[in-house]
Amino acid sequence: MAGELAPLAQAFFAATPELSLQALGSGVHVPSLDLAPHGIPVTHLLAEHNAELARQYLTLNQLAFGGIGVPRWVLSDLYLLPGAIGLLRCPARLLKAPARERLLLADEELAIGAACYVAPSLTPGLFVGVSLFSFLPGRGASAWVKLLTLGMVRAKRLRGITQWDNPAVRVHSRLGPMRLVGRVPGGHDYDERTFVYETDLSDEARVARAMCREEGAPSSATRIPVTDLLSLGALLDRAEAGARLELVPPGQDDGHVLVRELPPG
Ligand SMILES: CC(C)(COP(=O)(O)OP(=O)(O)OC[C@H]1O[C@@H](n2cnc3c(N)ncnc32)[C@H](O)[C@@H]1OP(=O)(O)O)[C@@H](O)C(=O)NCCC(=O)NCCS
Repeated sequence: MAGELAPLAQAFFAATPELSLQALGSGVHVPSLDLAPHGIPVTHLLAEHNAELARQYLTLNQLAFGGIGVPRWVLSDLYLLPGAIGLLRCPARLLKAPARERLLLADEELAIGAACYVAPSLTPGLFVGVSLFSFLPGRGASAWVKLLTLGMVRAKRLRGITQWDNPAVRVHSRLGPMRLVGRVPGGHDYDERTFVYETDLSDEARVARAMCREEGAPSSATRIPVTDLLSLGALLDRAEAGARLELVPPGQDDGHVLVRELPPG
């Protein structure tokens, strides 16, 4: 039975018909994937036979993340062997300038416009958000590639890492409230402003409402400047001690994050 997200996904692709959904990964995992998440067909490309596409992914990942872009061996060992990367592909002419220039493709050649990789974890149903990028601004491409990739791998929960001041907080909160988990296990290059969050994907109707931004931020949400690292660090201390704190959609607004505390559960 088609759920609440299928018509929204269809509307997204109808708005930019040049976009298609693909996956790049090892053939062994194909039977484990849902190749029509929310009704959108996925073309699975075998990483074993698509080295050129993997190289394009590597180039764009390194462009998007700069100094902390994925090293090539990590791409092979920890992305393509254990899982599959979700890709939105489109003619190269649609890409933002730095990506178009870096790839050196003709306008109509197919390029990766946005991509998401979530890694499987030891806990069934729980995936870890590893890399999300988009060179197709203003279309909601990264929220959609993230949601469809999570559908493709049949994720029920997502744990991800981001920064208070990263515009991506608005993207992540498109999938619903971001429960604060705490600091990054093992530390992070941007430790002082980075945190771990969890998104619950089990209620499709709730995810659909968040994708549409149907519910504005509750008036009870506290606004904390993304630069107030002392207060934000204190929130992480409390989250690690068991407090139920979450960033509520739209997550970030005018240099602030929007935080809500839930009663003990
Ligand atoms: C973050 C990123 C994935 C967003 O890509 P995108 O989906 O094409 O971006 P969009 O233009 O659709 O914008 C997504 C949201 O971010 C907001 N946004 C984008 N750039 C912004 C900026 N500079 N400042 C504030 N908000 C911004 C948009 O307003 C939009 O919010 P809305 O959906 O609530 O309206 C992309 O910029 C990127 O690849 N960044 C580098 C890699 C990265 O940081 N990844 C995330 C790691 S956690």
